[in-house]
Amino acid sequence: MTRHAKTTALVTGAAHGIGRAIALHLAREGAAVAVIDLDAAGAAATAALLTAEGHRAFATSADITDMTGLAMAVDACEAALGPITLLVNNAAFTDAGNLGGIGLEAWHHEVDVNLNGSYHCLRVLLPRMQARGAGVVVNIASVNGLRYFGNPAYSAAKAGLINLTQSVASEYGRYGIRCNAVLPGSVRTENASWQIRQQKDPAVFEKLARWYPLGRVAEPDDVAKAVSFLASDDASYITGVALPVDGGLLAGMNVMIGEFILES
Ligand SMILES: NC(=O)c1ccc[n+]([C@@H]2O[C@H](COP(=O)([O-])OP(=O)(O)OC[C@H]3O[C@@H](n4cnc5c(N)ncnc54)[C@H](O)[C@@H]3O)[C@@H](O)[C@H]2O)c1
Repeated sequence: MTRHAKTTALVTGAAHGIGRAIALHLAREGAAVAVIDLDAAGAAATAALLTAEGHRAFATSADITDMTGLAMAVDACEAALGPITLLVNNAAFTDAGNLGGIGLEAWHHEVDVNLNGSYHCLRVLLPRMQARGAGVVVNIASVNGLRYFGNPAYSAAKAGLINLTQSVASEYGRYGIRCNAVLPGSVRTENASWQIRQQKDPAVFEKLARWYPLGRVAEPDDVAKAVSFLASDDASYITGVALPVDGGLLAGMNVMIGEFILES
């Protein structure tokens, strides 16, 4: 498939989980894909998966909270693959579950990674896209940016990322740049937050399924497909949206409806 034959994508946080699925999906649709991640070995493993399938890929390690190191990493990506035409702000971190228990340092760290880190990537790449008169950004936010489901610092940062999406769409549309956000619900990955919950309850994903009208949590590829669409020309008139990819979680109170409405 050649939907992204002219795309050179940078996917942050693609050493694992959803980011890796996005990288694979875009590559299989023709994109050259650069990976930036804190985890150098994981990033290299993702790039190796892509090149093994015959796709163009490059991986480097950087911390998105460090503006200087990040800019150097983006330079290395562009030197290897050419100008980045698509930025997917995917890197994120949370392990602090509730407001009463979160420490000050954890609060600052989660806001720094989940909001400031994405801003740093935009700060590096928007002027380059503007100079070329084209570019696409997809920010991986979360349903947590619209409602509270735990992880307060992460959630506040994701709410900020949704608003930042609107800033970029509003200010940079005139330069041919589109910017949208994808808001996943629960996705079956092994991120820090899910590892903690799975240690407490190995059946956590199965128990969560009843909150979702579609009857299951998401797989990483469910998110990757939405990213691919928003990044493609099929979405050429879509900018500034926050698209839930949540199996209907935000549509209503599925457990309440199941217990009091459908069974009444
Ligand atoms: N898994 C879910 O249920 C879920 C739900 C909603 C939204 N999301 C969002 O999807 C995206 C991917 O989530 P995931 O579950 O695949 O997470 P993950 O933890 O598996 O992957 C995140 C990646 O980001 C990297 N990373 C973390 N901090 C970084 C930093 N400072 N600099 C560079 N890289 C850094 C990690 O090394 C990791 O490879 C995130 O934006 C997350 O908020 C996930």
